[in-house]
Amino acid sequence: MARILIVISIFIICSCSTRKFPGPESVNFYQYSFQKSVVASHGAVVSAHPLASQIGVEIMKKGGNAIDAAIATQLALAVVYPGAGNIGGGGFMVAHLANGKQVALDFREKAPASAHRNMYLDTNGNVIASKSLNGHLSSGVPGTIAGLFESMQYAKLSFKILIQPAIDLAEKGFAITEREATSLNELQSDLKQFNTVRSAFQKELPWKKGDTLIQRELANTLIRIRDLGAAGFYEGKTALLIVEEMKRGGGIMTLDDLKGYKAKWRTPHQFTYKGHTIVSMPMPSSGGVLLHQMMKMVEDKPLPTLGFLSPLAVQLMVESERRAYADRAKYMGDPDFYPVPVEQLTSESYLKERMHDFVAGVAGKSESIAPGTIKESTQTTHISIIDREGNAVSVTTTLNNSYGSKTVVGGAGFLLNDEMDDFSAKPGVPNLYGAVGGEANAIEPGKRMLSSMTPTIVLKNGEPFIITGTPGGTTIPTSVFQTLVNIIDFNLSTEDAVNKPKFHHQWLPDLVSVEESFPSEVISALTRMGYTIQKREAIGRVETIKVLPVGRFEAVADNRGDDAAYGY
Ligand code: DON
Repeated sequence: MARILIVISIFIICSCSTRKFPGPESVNFYQYSFQKSVVASHGAVVSAHPLASQIGVEIMKKGGNAIDAAIATQLALAVVYPGAGNIGGGGFMVAHLANGKQVALDFREKAPASAHRNMYLDTNGNVIASKSLNGHLSSGVPGTIAGLFESMQYAKLSFKILIQPAIDLAEKGFAITEREATSLNELQSDLKQFNTVRSAFQKELPWKKGDTLIQRELANTLIRIRDLGAAGFYEGKTALLIVEEMKRGGGIMTLDDLKGYKAKWRTPHQFTYKGHTIVSMPMPSSGGVLLHQMMKMVEDKPLPTLGFLSPLAVQLMVESERRAYADRAKYMGDPDFYPVPVEQLTSESYLKERMHDFVAGVAGKSESIAPGTIKESTQTTHISIIDREGNAVSVTTTLNNSYGSKTVVGGAGFLLNDEMDDFSAKPGVPNLYGAVGGEANAIEPGKRMLSSMTPTIVLKNGEPFIITGTPGGTTIPTSVFQTLVNIIDFNLSTEDAVNKPKFHHQWLPDLVSVEESFPSEVISALTRMGYTIQKREAIGRVETIKVLPVGRFEAVADNRGDDAAYGY
Protein backbone atom coordinates (compact mmCIF):
# COMPACT_ATOMS: atom_id res chain seq x y z
CA MET A 1 0.00 0.00 0.00
CA ALA A 2 1.37 3.37 -0.97
CA ARG A 3 2.21 5.22 2.18
CA ILE A 4 1.92 8.87 1.36
CA LEU A 5 2.52 10.34 4.76
CA ILE A 6 3.66 8.84 8.02
CA VAL A 7 3.42 11.15 10.94
CA ILE A 8 5.40 9.59 13.77
CA SER A 9 5.41 12.49 16.10
CA ILE A 10 2.98 15.33 15.95
CA PHE A 11 3.31 18.17 18.30
CA ILE A 12 1.35 21.29 17.67
CA ILE A 13 3.01 24.56 18.56
CA CYS A 14 0.64 26.93 20.33
CA SER A 15 -1.40 28.71 17.73
CA CYS A 16 -1.00 32.42 18.32
CA SER A 17 -2.60 33.24 15.02
CA THR A 18 -3.78 31.31 12.02
CA ARG A 19 -2.79 34.10 9.66
CA LYS A 20 -0.58 33.07 6.82
CA PHE A 21 1.90 35.44 5.27
CA PRO A 22 3.26 35.96 1.76
CA GLY A 23 5.68 33.38 0.50
CA PRO A 24 4.83 29.71 0.57
CA GLU A 25 1.08 29.99 0.98
CA SER A 26 0.52 26.73 2.72
CA VAL A 27 3.17 27.19 5.40
CA ASN A 28 1.77 28.53 8.63
CA PHE A 29 4.52 30.20 10.64
CA TYR A 30 2.59 29.82 13.89
CA GLN A 31 1.27 26.32 13.74
CA TYR A 32 3.30 23.40 12.57
CA SER A 33 4.07 19.81 13.45
CA PHE A 34 7.26 17.84 13.87
CA GLN A 35 6.71 15.32 11.13
CA LYS A 36 9.49 12.79 11.56
CA SER A 37 9.17 10.81 8.38
CA VAL A 38 7.48 10.82 5.03
CA VAL A 39 7.38 8.76 1.89
CA ALA A 40 7.03 10.99 -1.15
CA SER A 41 7.31 10.60 -4.90
CA HIS A 42 8.04 14.14 -6.12
CA GLY A 43 10.55 15.53 -3.67
CA ALA A 44 11.55 15.53 -0.01
CA VAL A 45 13.41 17.78 2.41
CA VAL A 46 14.78 16.86 5.84
CA SER A 47 16.15 19.67 7.98
CA ALA A 48 16.44 20.79 11.59
CA HIS A 49 13.15 22.72 11.59
CA PRO A 50 9.64 21.97 10.29
CA LEU A 51 9.18 25.45 8.79
CA ALA A 52 12.45 25.21 6.87
CA SER A 53 11.63 21.72 5.56
CA GLN A 54 8.15 22.83 4.51
CA ILE A 55 9.53 25.89 2.73
CA GLY A 56 11.96 23.67 0.80
CA VAL A 57 9.07 21.48 -0.33
CA GLU A 58 6.96 24.49 -1.33
CA ILE A 59 9.82 25.76 -3.48
CA MET A 60 9.89 22.42 -5.32
CA LYS A 61 6.11 22.57 -5.76
CA LYS A 62 6.61 25.99 -7.38
CA GLY A 63 8.88 24.44 -10.00
CA GLY A 64 12.20 24.59 -8.19
CA ASN A 65 14.61 21.68 -8.09
CA ALA A 66 16.58 20.26 -5.14
CA ILE A 67 19.18 23.02 -5.41
CA ASP A 68 16.48 25.74 -5.27
CA ALA A 69 15.03 23.96 -2.26
CA ALA A 70 18.44 23.74 -0.59
CA ILE A 71 18.98 27.49 -0.99
CA ALA A 72 15.52 28.40 0.35
CA THR A 73 15.81 25.90 3.22
CA GLN A 74 19.22 27.23 4.28
CA LEU A 75 17.94 30.80 4.25
CA ALA A 76 14.84 29.80 6.23
CA LEU A 77 17.03 28.02 8.79
CA ALA A 78 19.07 31.21 9.20
CA VAL A 79 15.86 32.72 10.60
CA VAL A 80 14.06 29.90 12.42
CA TYR A 81 17.12 28.09 13.76
CA PRO A 82 19.52 30.84 14.84
CA GLY A 83 21.71 28.46 16.88
CA ALA A 84 23.08 26.87 13.72
CA GLY A 85 21.20 28.03 10.62
CA ASN A 86 23.12 31.06 9.49
CA ILE A 87 24.30 33.72 7.14
CA GLY A 88 27.25 34.47 9.43
CA GLY A 89 28.83 31.01 9.19
CA GLY A 90 29.78 28.55 6.50
CA GLY A 91 29.48 24.97 5.31
CA PHE A 92 29.77 22.41 2.58
CA MET A 93 27.42 21.05 -0.09
CA VAL A 94 27.65 17.79 -2.00
CA ALA A 95 25.21 17.35 -4.86
CA HIS A 96 24.39 14.74 -7.46
CA LEU A 97 22.92 16.52 -10.46
CA ALA A 98 20.28 15.15 -12.79
CA ASN A 99 22.89 15.10 -15.60
CA GLY A 100 24.87 12.51 -13.63
CA LYS A 101 27.57 14.93 -12.44
CA GLN A 102 28.69 15.16 -8.81
CA VAL A 103 29.79 18.49 -7.36
CA ALA A 104 31.14 19.66 -4.00
CA LEU A 105 30.98 23.27 -2.87
CA ASP A 106 33.21 24.63 -0.11
CA PHE A 107 31.84 27.73 1.56
CA ARG A 108 33.88 27.24 4.72
CA GLU A 109 34.91 30.31 6.70
CA LYS A 110 38.46 31.65 6.31
CA ALA A 111 40.85 33.15 8.81
CA PRO A 112 40.95 36.96 8.46
CA ALA A 113 44.11 38.40 6.83
CA SER A 114 45.56 39.56 10.13
CA ALA A 115 45.00 36.23 11.90
CA HIS A 116 48.21 34.56 13.06
CA ARG A 117 49.16 31.24 14.55
CA ASN A 118 49.61 32.45 18.13
CA MET A 119 46.55 34.65 18.32
CA TYR A 120 44.85 32.55 21.01
CA LEU A 121 47.92 32.10 23.22
CA ASP A 122 48.74 34.07 26.37
CA THR A 123 52.20 35.45 27.12
CA ASN A 124 53.25 32.07 28.52
CA GLY A 125 52.21 30.33 25.33
CA ASN A 126 49.09 28.73 26.84
CA VAL A 127 45.81 28.61 24.91
CA ILE A 128 43.09 30.98 26.11
CA ALA A 129 40.23 28.75 24.98
CA SER A 130 37.44 31.29 25.43
CA LYS A 131 39.09 33.63 22.92
CA SER A 132 38.59 31.28 19.97
CA LEU A 133 35.10 30.31 21.12
CA ASN A 134 33.28 33.48 22.08
CA GLY A 135 33.11 37.03 20.93
CA HIS A 136 34.51 38.99 18.04
CA LEU A 137 37.94 37.39 17.73
CA SER A 138 36.52 33.89 17.33
CA SER A 139 34.89 34.49 13.93
CA GLY A 140 36.18 33.44 10.57
CA VAL A 141 35.09 35.31 7.43
CA PRO A 142 31.60 33.95 6.70
CA GLY A 143 31.06 31.83 3.58
CA THR A 144 27.35 31.00 3.53
CA ILE A 145 26.08 33.78 1.27
CA ALA A 146 28.91 33.25 -1.24
CA GLY A 147 28.04 29.54 -1.21
CA LEU A 148 24.37 30.19 -1.90
CA PHE A 149 25.15 32.42 -4.87
CA GLU A 150 27.67 29.89 -6.26
CA SER A 151 25.05 27.15 -6.10
CA MET A 152 22.53 29.38 -7.96
CA GLN A 153 24.09 28.20 -11.25
CA TYR A 154 22.22 24.90 -10.78
CA ALA A 155 18.96 26.47 -9.58
CA LYS A 156 15.88 27.10 -11.70
CA LEU A 157 14.06 29.84 -9.82
CA SER A 158 15.27 33.38 -9.11
CA PHE A 159 17.11 34.18 -5.89
CA LYS A 160 14.37 36.71 -5.11
CA ILE A 161 11.84 33.88 -4.92
CA LEU A 162 14.15 31.65 -2.87
CA ILE A 163 14.96 34.26 -0.22
CA GLN A 164 11.44 35.66 0.19
CA PRO A 165 10.19 33.06 2.69
CA ALA A 166 13.17 33.83 4.93
CA ILE A 167 12.44 37.55 4.71
CA ASP A 168 8.80 36.89 5.60
CA LEU A 169 9.78 34.71 8.54
CA ALA A 170 12.14 37.38 9.87
CA GLU A 171 9.71 40.26 9.33
CA LYS A 172 6.50 38.69 10.53
CA GLY A 173 8.00 36.34 13.04
CA PHE A 174 7.25 32.69 13.75
CA ALA A 175 6.35 30.62 16.81
CA ILE A 176 9.45 29.26 18.49
CA THR A 177 9.68 25.66 19.64
CA GLU A 178 10.16 24.56 23.23
CA ARG A 179 13.78 23.60 22.52
CA GLU A 180 14.46 27.00 20.96
CA ALA A 181 12.90 28.75 23.97
CA THR A 182 15.10 26.77 26.34
CA SER A 183 18.28 27.42 24.42
CA LEU A 184 17.54 31.13 23.98
CA ASN A 185 16.99 31.35 27.74
CA GLU A 186 20.32 29.62 28.36
CA LEU A 187 21.97 32.07 25.97
CA GLN A 188 20.87 35.28 27.70
CA SER A 189 23.94 35.86 29.88
CA ASP A 190 26.34 35.13 26.97
CA LEU A 191 24.39 37.55 24.82
CA LYS A 192 24.92 40.26 27.43
CA GLN A 193 28.61 39.43 27.70
CA PHE A 194 29.55 39.18 24.04
CA ASN A 195 27.45 41.88 22.42
CA THR A 196 27.85 45.60 22.03
CA VAL A 197 24.27 46.18 20.84
CA ARG A 198 21.01 44.59 22.03
CA SER A 199 19.59 41.99 19.64
CA ALA A 200 16.21 40.40 18.91
CA PHE A 201 17.24 37.34 20.93
CA GLN A 202 17.51 39.28 24.18
CA LYS A 203 14.47 39.41 26.43
CA GLU A 204 13.81 40.29 30.07
CA LEU A 205 11.15 37.61 30.68
CA PRO A 206 12.00 34.03 29.79
CA TRP A 207 11.21 32.87 26.26
CA LYS A 208 8.53 30.23 26.12
CA LYS A 209 7.24 27.79 23.54
CA GLY A 210 4.98 29.54 21.03
CA ASP A 211 6.42 33.04 21.55
CA THR A 212 6.82 34.93 18.29
CA LEU A 213 10.40 35.75 17.34
CA ILE A 214 10.56 38.76 15.02
CA GLN A 215 13.98 39.71 13.58
CA ARG A 216 13.59 43.07 11.79
CA GLU A 217 17.30 43.81 11.41
CA LEU A 218 17.90 40.36 9.96
CA ALA A 219 14.98 40.94 7.56
CA ASN A 220 16.65 44.16 6.37
CA THR A 221 19.95 42.35 5.85
CA LEU A 222 18.16 39.64 3.84
CA ILE A 223 16.43 42.35 1.77
CA ARG A 224 19.85 43.90 0.98
CA ILE A 225 21.06 40.46 -0.15
CA ARG A 226 17.88 39.98 -2.22
CA ASP A 227 18.35 43.34 -3.93
CA LEU A 228 22.15 43.50 -4.29
CA GLY A 229 23.17 39.85 -4.47
CA ALA A 230 26.29 38.67 -2.61
CA ALA A 231 27.42 42.32 -2.46
CA GLY A 232 24.45 42.90 -0.16
CA PHE A 233 26.44 40.93 2.41
CA TYR A 234 30.14 41.23 1.53
CA GLU A 235 30.06 44.93 0.58
CA GLY A 236 28.10 48.06 1.38
CA LYS A 237 25.97 48.47 4.47
CA THR A 238 26.11 44.88 5.79
CA ALA A 239 29.90 44.72 5.46
CA LEU A 240 30.21 48.09 7.18
CA LEU A 241 27.98 46.90 10.03
CA ILE A 242 30.17 43.80 10.46
CA VAL A 243 33.38 45.85 10.52
CA GLU A 244 31.90 48.41 12.93
CA GLU A 245 30.88 45.50 15.17
CA MET A 246 34.45 44.16 14.97
CA LYS A 247 35.86 47.53 15.96
CA ARG A 248 33.51 47.84 18.95
CA GLY A 249 34.37 44.35 20.19
CA GLY A 250 38.09 43.97 19.42
CA GLY A 251 37.70 41.73 16.34
CA ILE A 252 40.01 41.73 13.31
CA MET A 253 37.76 41.14 10.28
CA THR A 254 38.06 43.92 7.69
CA LEU A 255 36.15 45.14 4.63
CA ASP A 256 38.87 43.57 2.47
CA ASP A 257 38.46 40.21 4.21
CA LEU A 258 34.75 40.30 3.41
CA LYS A 259 35.09 41.51 -0.17
CA GLY A 260 37.78 38.94 -0.87
CA TYR A 261 35.80 35.88 0.31
CA LYS A 262 35.15 33.28 -2.41
CA ALA A 263 33.36 29.93 -2.19
CA LYS A 264 35.23 27.14 -4.01
CA TRP A 265 34.12 24.19 -6.10
CA ARG A 266 36.08 21.11 -5.09
CA THR A 267 36.24 17.62 -6.55
CA PRO A 268 33.99 15.44 -4.38
CA HIS A 269 35.75 12.72 -2.39
CA GLN A 270 34.52 9.42 -3.83
CA PHE A 271 35.11 5.77 -3.07
CA THR A 272 33.27 2.49 -3.33
CA TYR A 273 31.84 0.36 -0.55
CA LYS A 274 30.22 -3.00 -1.21
CA GLY A 275 29.02 -2.02 -4.67
CA HIS A 276 27.94 1.49 -3.70
CA THR A 277 29.65 4.72 -4.67
CA ILE A 278 30.05 7.04 -1.72
CA VAL A 279 30.27 10.74 -2.62
CA SER A 280 31.35 13.01 0.19
CA MET A 281 33.18 16.20 1.08
CA PRO A 282 36.91 16.56 0.43
CA MET A 283 39.37 18.74 2.35
CA PRO A 284 39.15 21.22 4.05
CA SER A 285 36.61 18.92 5.63
CA SER A 286 38.12 15.78 7.05
CA GLY A 287 34.66 14.19 6.71
CA GLY A 288 34.99 12.43 3.35
CA VAL A 289 38.47 11.05 4.01
CA LEU A 290 37.58 9.85 7.52
CA LEU A 291 34.44 8.18 6.20
CA HIS A 292 36.50 6.52 3.45
CA GLN A 293 39.13 5.30 5.92
CA MET A 294 36.60 3.97 8.44
CA MET A 295 34.43 2.22 5.85
CA LYS A 296 37.39 0.62 4.07
CA MET A 297 38.87 -0.59 7.35
CA VAL A 298 35.70 -2.61 8.03
CA GLU A 299 34.65 -3.51 4.47
CA ASP A 300 36.34 -6.92 4.51
CA LYS A 301 35.13 -7.73 8.05
CA PRO A 302 31.97 -9.79 8.68
CA LEU A 303 29.86 -6.93 10.08
CA PRO A 304 26.50 -8.31 8.86
CA THR A 305 27.20 -11.66 10.56
CA LEU A 306 28.39 -10.05 13.78
CA GLY A 307 25.17 -8.03 13.89
CA PHE A 308 24.06 -4.51 14.77
CA LEU A 309 25.44 -3.30 18.13
CA SER A 310 27.04 -6.67 18.85
CA PRO A 311 30.13 -6.04 21.00
CA LEU A 312 32.49 -7.29 18.30
CA ALA A 313 30.90 -5.18 15.57
CA VAL A 314 31.07 -2.11 17.81
CA GLN A 315 34.71 -2.92 18.63
CA LEU A 316 35.67 -3.18 14.96
CA MET A 317 34.04 0.13 14.18
CA VAL A 318 35.57 1.81 17.24
CA GLU A 319 39.06 0.65 16.23
CA SER A 320 38.60 1.94 12.69
CA GLU A 321 37.39 5.27 14.13
CA ARG A 322 40.43 5.46 16.44
CA ARG A 323 42.89 4.96 13.57
CA ALA A 324 41.17 7.38 11.19
CA TYR A 325 41.06 10.16 13.81
CA ALA A 326 44.76 9.67 14.63
CA ASP A 327 45.49 10.51 10.98
CA ARG A 328 43.15 13.49 11.14
CA ALA A 329 45.21 15.02 13.93
CA LYS A 330 48.46 14.93 11.97
CA TYR A 331 47.72 15.12 8.28
CA MET A 332 44.50 17.02 7.68
CA GLY A 333 43.99 20.71 7.01
CA ASP A 334 43.21 23.19 4.24
CA PRO A 335 44.69 21.68 1.03
CA ASP A 336 45.35 25.17 -0.33
CA PHE A 337 47.89 25.64 2.48
CA TYR A 338 49.07 22.16 3.39
CA PRO A 339 49.74 19.13 1.15
CA VAL A 340 47.25 16.68 2.67
CA PRO A 341 48.33 13.16 1.55
CA VAL A 342 44.81 12.04 0.67
CA GLU A 343 45.84 9.31 -1.77
CA GLN A 344 48.18 7.64 0.69
CA LEU A 345 45.73 7.95 3.58
CA THR A 346 43.03 6.22 1.58
CA SER A 347 45.01 3.62 -0.34
CA GLU A 348 43.81 0.03 0.08
CA SER A 349 47.24 -1.19 1.19
CA TYR A 350 47.62 1.57 3.79
CA LEU A 351 44.19 0.93 5.29
CA LYS A 352 44.75 -2.82 5.42
CA GLU A 353 48.05 -2.28 7.18
CA ARG A 354 46.37 0.15 9.58
CA MET A 355 44.21 -2.67 10.99
CA HIS A 356 47.00 -5.27 11.20
CA ASP A 357 47.27 -4.88 14.99
CA PHE A 358 43.52 -5.18 15.59
CA VAL A 359 42.76 -7.97 18.10
CA ALA A 360 39.13 -9.07 18.39
CA GLY A 361 37.94 -8.76 21.98
CA VAL A 362 40.90 -6.66 23.18
CA ALA A 363 40.78 -2.86 23.31
CA GLY A 364 43.44 -1.01 21.31
CA LYS A 365 45.31 1.82 23.03
CA SER A 366 45.64 5.25 21.47
CA GLU A 367 49.11 5.71 22.98
CA SER A 368 50.36 2.81 20.87
CA ILE A 369 48.38 3.76 17.75
CA ALA A 370 50.04 6.86 16.34
CA PRO A 371 49.05 8.54 13.11
CA GLY A 372 50.07 6.24 10.25
CA THR A 373 53.41 6.63 8.51
CA ILE A 374 53.06 8.30 5.16
CA LYS A 375 55.89 8.06 2.69
CA GLU A 376 56.20 11.69 1.58
CA SER A 377 57.13 14.99 2.57
CA THR A 378 27.26 21.88 20.43
CA GLN A 379 25.83 23.53 16.66
CA THR A 380 25.68 22.67 13.08
CA THR A 381 22.78 21.73 10.88
CA HIS A 382 22.28 19.35 7.99
CA ILE A 383 19.80 19.33 5.13
CA SER A 384 19.10 16.38 2.82
CA ILE A 385 16.98 16.97 -0.30
CA ILE A 386 15.90 15.05 -3.37
CA ASP A 387 13.71 15.95 -6.32
CA ARG A 388 12.01 13.89 -9.01
CA GLU A 389 14.32 15.28 -11.72
CA GLY A 390 17.19 13.25 -10.28
CA ASN A 391 18.97 15.96 -8.28
CA ALA A 392 20.07 15.19 -4.73
CA VAL A 393 21.62 17.67 -2.31
CA SER A 394 23.39 17.10 0.98
CA VAL A 395 24.46 20.28 2.75
CA THR A 396 25.87 20.81 6.22
CA THR A 397 26.26 24.33 7.51
CA THR A 398 27.32 25.76 10.84
CA LEU A 399 28.27 28.59 13.16
CA ASN A 400 30.42 25.96 14.99
CA ASN A 401 29.30 26.12 18.60
CA SER A 402 25.61 26.68 19.35
CA TYR A 403 24.90 30.34 18.38
CA GLY A 404 28.54 30.59 17.23
CA SER A 405 30.52 33.43 18.77
CA LYS A 406 27.32 34.60 20.57
CA THR A 407 27.99 37.95 18.92
CA VAL A 408 25.16 39.40 16.86
CA VAL A 409 26.23 42.00 14.29
CA GLY A 410 24.72 45.22 15.62
CA GLY A 411 22.11 46.60 13.20
CA ALA A 412 22.35 43.54 10.95
CA GLY A 413 20.67 40.99 13.22
CA PHE A 414 22.70 37.84 12.57
CA LEU A 415 25.10 35.81 14.66
CA LEU A 416 28.73 35.42 13.70
CA ASN A 417 30.46 32.04 13.80
CA ASP A 418 33.20 30.94 16.22
CA GLU A 419 34.84 28.77 13.61
CA MET A 420 38.38 29.92 14.46
CA ASP A 421 38.24 27.30 17.24
CA ASP A 422 38.37 24.56 14.59
CA PHE A 423 41.98 25.51 13.91
CA SER A 424 44.63 23.96 16.09
CA ALA A 425 45.43 26.93 18.37
CA LYS A 426 48.54 25.10 19.59
CA PRO A 427 49.88 21.67 18.60
CA GLY A 428 48.40 18.95 20.78
CA VAL A 429 45.95 21.20 22.65
CA PRO A 430 42.37 19.98 22.13
CA ASN A 431 39.68 22.28 20.72
CA LEU A 432 36.01 22.40 21.74
CA TYR A 433 35.47 18.88 20.37
CA GLY A 434 38.61 17.46 21.96
CA ALA A 435 40.29 17.31 18.55
CA VAL A 436 44.01 17.87 18.46
CA GLY A 437 46.04 19.00 15.48
CA GLY A 438 49.36 20.42 14.41
CA GLU A 439 51.03 22.08 11.48
CA ALA A 440 48.45 20.92 8.91
CA ASN A 441 45.71 22.82 10.73
CA ALA A 442 47.68 25.73 12.23
CA ILE A 443 46.22 29.22 11.87
CA GLU A 444 47.36 31.17 8.80
CA PRO A 445 45.83 34.24 7.17
CA GLY A 446 43.21 33.32 4.57
CA LYS A 447 43.31 29.62 5.49
CA ARG A 448 40.20 27.50 6.01
CA MET A 449 40.02 25.69 9.35
CA LEU A 450 39.72 21.89 9.24
CA SER A 451 36.15 20.65 9.48
CA SER A 452 34.45 17.34 10.24
CA MET A 453 31.29 18.05 8.28
CA THR A 454 30.37 15.08 6.10
CA PRO A 455 27.53 15.81 3.70
CA THR A 456 27.26 12.52 1.82
CA ILE A 457 25.37 10.94 -1.06
CA VAL A 458 25.48 7.20 -1.72
CA LEU A 459 24.90 6.11 -5.29
CA LYS A 460 23.71 2.70 -6.41
CA ASN A 461 24.06 2.00 -10.11
CA GLY A 462 24.92 5.65 -10.56
CA GLU A 463 21.65 6.91 -9.06
CA PRO A 464 21.09 8.49 -5.61
CA PHE A 465 20.34 5.83 -2.98
CA ILE A 466 21.04 7.52 0.37
CA ILE A 467 21.44 11.23 1.16
CA THR A 468 22.65 11.92 4.65
CA GLY A 469 24.61 14.12 7.02
CA THR A 470 24.50 15.49 10.55
CA PRO A 471 25.79 18.09 13.00
CA GLY A 472 27.95 17.03 15.95
CA GLY A 473 31.51 18.34 15.59
CA THR A 474 33.99 15.47 15.49
CA THR A 475 31.17 12.95 15.93
CA ILE A 476 29.88 13.86 12.45
CA PRO A 477 31.99 11.38 10.42
CA THR A 478 31.35 8.55 12.89
CA SER A 479 27.59 9.24 12.87
CA VAL A 480 27.52 9.19 9.06
CA PHE A 481 29.70 6.03 9.08
CA GLN A 482 27.30 4.29 11.48
CA THR A 483 24.18 5.42 9.63
CA LEU A 484 25.51 4.05 6.33
CA VAL A 485 26.72 0.77 7.84
CA ASN A 486 23.38 0.45 9.67
CA ILE A 487 21.58 0.53 6.32
CA ILE A 488 24.08 -1.26 4.06
CA ASP A 489 25.48 -3.92 6.42
CA PHE A 490 22.94 -4.33 9.21
CA ASN A 491 19.90 -3.87 6.99
CA LEU A 492 18.20 -1.57 9.51
CA SER A 493 15.16 0.46 8.53
CA THR A 494 15.99 4.09 7.77
CA GLU A 495 14.30 5.16 11.01
CA ASP A 496 16.37 2.74 13.09
CA ALA A 497 19.54 3.61 11.20
CA VAL A 498 19.00 7.23 12.17
CA ASN A 499 17.61 6.87 15.68
CA LYS A 500 19.26 3.84 17.28
CA PRO A 501 22.02 4.67 19.79
CA LYS A 502 25.37 5.81 18.45
CA PHE A 503 28.94 5.64 19.75
CA HIS A 504 32.12 7.54 19.02
CA HIS A 505 35.88 7.20 19.32
CA GLN A 506 38.28 9.90 18.09
CA TRP A 507 41.73 8.54 19.07
CA LEU A 508 42.21 11.17 21.76
CA PRO A 509 40.86 11.14 24.39
CA ASP A 510 41.11 7.35 24.45
CA LEU A 511 37.51 6.53 25.30
CA VAL A 512 34.34 5.38 23.65
CA SER A 513 31.52 7.86 24.13
CA VAL A 514 28.05 6.39 23.94
CA GLU A 515 24.57 7.86 24.09
CA GLU A 516 22.51 7.40 27.25
CA SER A 517 20.33 4.82 25.50
CA PHE A 518 23.30 2.65 24.50
CA PRO A 519 22.58 -0.95 25.66
CA SER A 520 24.13 -1.68 29.06
CA GLU A 521 25.12 -5.24 28.12
CA VAL A 522 27.24 -3.91 25.23
CA ILE A 523 28.82 -1.39 27.60
CA SER A 524 29.70 -4.25 29.97
CA ALA A 525 31.17 -6.34 27.13
CA LEU A 526 33.27 -3.42 25.87
CA THR A 527 34.45 -2.66 29.40
CA ARG A 528 35.59 -6.27 29.77
CA MET A 529 37.59 -5.88 26.55
CA GLY A 530 39.43 -2.97 28.19
CA TYR A 531 37.56 0.06 26.82
CA THR A 532 36.78 3.14 28.87
CA ILE A 533 33.17 4.09 28.21
CA GLN A 534 31.70 7.51 28.81
CA LYS A 535 28.02 8.34 28.48
CA ARG A 536 27.23 11.62 26.82
CA GLU A 537 24.35 13.63 25.41
CA ALA A 538 22.91 12.90 21.98
CA ILE A 539 25.36 12.08 19.21
CA GLY A 540 24.34 13.79 15.99
CA ARG A 541 21.03 14.64 14.37
CA VAL A 542 21.14 12.64 11.19
CA GLU A 543 18.86 13.78 8.36
CA THR A 544 18.50 10.92 5.91
CA ILE A 545 16.68 10.20 2.67
CA LYS A 546 16.65 6.71 1.19
CA VAL A 547 15.42 6.10 -2.33
CA LEU A 548 12.90 3.26 -2.42
CA PRO A 549 12.05 1.20 -5.49
CA VAL A 550 9.76 2.77 -8.08
CA GLY A 551 10.85 6.31 -7.57
CA ARG A 552 9.71 6.92 -4.02
CA PHE A 553 11.75 8.71 -1.40
CA GLU A 554 11.72 7.83 2.29
CA ALA A 555 12.81 10.86 4.28
CA VAL A 556 13.60 10.51 8.00
CA ALA A 557 14.38 13.27 10.48
CA ASP A 558 16.35 12.50 13.62
CA ASN A 559 14.30 12.14 16.81
CA ARG A 560 17.03 13.88 18.80
CA GLY A 561 15.83 17.40 17.89
CA ASP A 562 13.06 19.51 16.32
CA ASP A 563 14.07 18.09 12.96
CA ALA A 564 11.34 17.38 10.43
CA ALA A 565 10.88 15.57 7.13
CA TYR A 566 8.44 16.84 4.53
CA GLY A 567 7.73 15.79 0.98
CA TYR A 568 5.07 15.69 -1.68
O1 DON B 1 33.30 22.13 11.04
C1 DON B 1 33.20 21.41 12.02
O2 DON B 1 33.57 20.27 12.04
C2 DON B 1 32.56 21.97 13.27
N1 DON B 1 32.66 23.39 13.28
C3 DON B 1 31.14 21.51 13.31
C4 DON B 1 30.43 21.95 14.56
C5 DON B 1 29.24 21.15 14.88
O3 DON B 1 28.91 20.22 14.21
C6 DON B 1 28.52 21.51 16.11
N2 DON B 1 27.30 20.76 16.20
N3 DON B 1 26.81 20.13 16.99
